[in-house]
Amino acid sequence: MSFLVLQRIRKSFFYLNKRVEILKGVNLSVEKGEKIAIVGPSGVGKTTLLHIIGTLEKPDSGELFLNGKSLSLISESELAEVRKRFIGFVFQMHYLLPELNVLENVVLPGKLAGLKDKEAGERARALLELFGLGERLFYKPSHLSGGERQRVAIARALLLDPPLLLADEPTGNLDPQTAEEVIQAFLKANKEAGTTLILVTHNLDFAKKMDKIFLLKSGVLIKL
Ligand SMILES: Nc1ncnc2c1ncn2[C@@H]1O[C@H](COP(=O)(O)OP(=O)(O)OP(=O)(O)O)[C@@H](O)[C@H]1O
Ligand SMILES: [Mg+2]
Repeated sequence: MSFLVLQRIRKSFFYLNKRVEILKGVNLSVEKGEKIAIVGPSGVGKTTLLHIIGTLEKPDSGELFLNGKSLSLISESELAEVRKRFIGFVFQMHYLLPELNVLENVVLPGKLAGLKDKEAGERARALLELFGLGERLFYKPSHLSGGERQRVAIARALLLDPPLLLADEPTGNLDPQTAEEVIQAFLKANKEAGTTLILVTHNLDFAKKMDKIFLLKSGVLIKL
């Protein structure tokens, strides 16, 4: 079985007493170390799908398997463990904590996971070096450029070395050159650590740097 498998995932939302079907039977198989892009117009359900893959939201029906394990029937605490061990998130908004400096932001998931300070600190520094932020360790996020913030967010998502990295339009608010730097950071993580990547993007040039591109349309994924 593939590393990540989605089978007939359905999701609808109730809003103002009306049910709106967003996902209508999404199927997807992703191998370990693969790079996948998901494209599609605004409002089609890309973020919803990413949240379901990341176990932040539950589907109405369908099956999700990660590393051969079904995630449908496990408890919320087991799910939290899977999330911590297997999944890194990079959101469109970076969600860095403004009162913490760069290094502290990246170390934080390590602290929460009970990693030793020294170990987390060393790993955070190495990641920040890798993404060209070695000179920015003690800056507050408000003193960084948009691309630098996003690269810090990627370093933070990678701190616990998740085998799966989910990114929701991480370059949406960036100028082309900065966006390119951010994409290079993802490609580096994939190359150096074999991190499986799922990238939601509106940018076809970036999508083409992945191994496969899927279009989310009418509630299903279509391989382009
Ligand atoms: N909690 C919710 N309650 C009701 N409707 C929702 C909820 N979350 C999302 N939706 C609806 O689901 C649809 C898909 O939203 P989603 O955020 O997944 O789209 P998207 O493809 O990520 O769009 P974008 O490219 O603009 O980010 C939208 O029409 C939205 O209004
Ligand atoms: Mg979205």
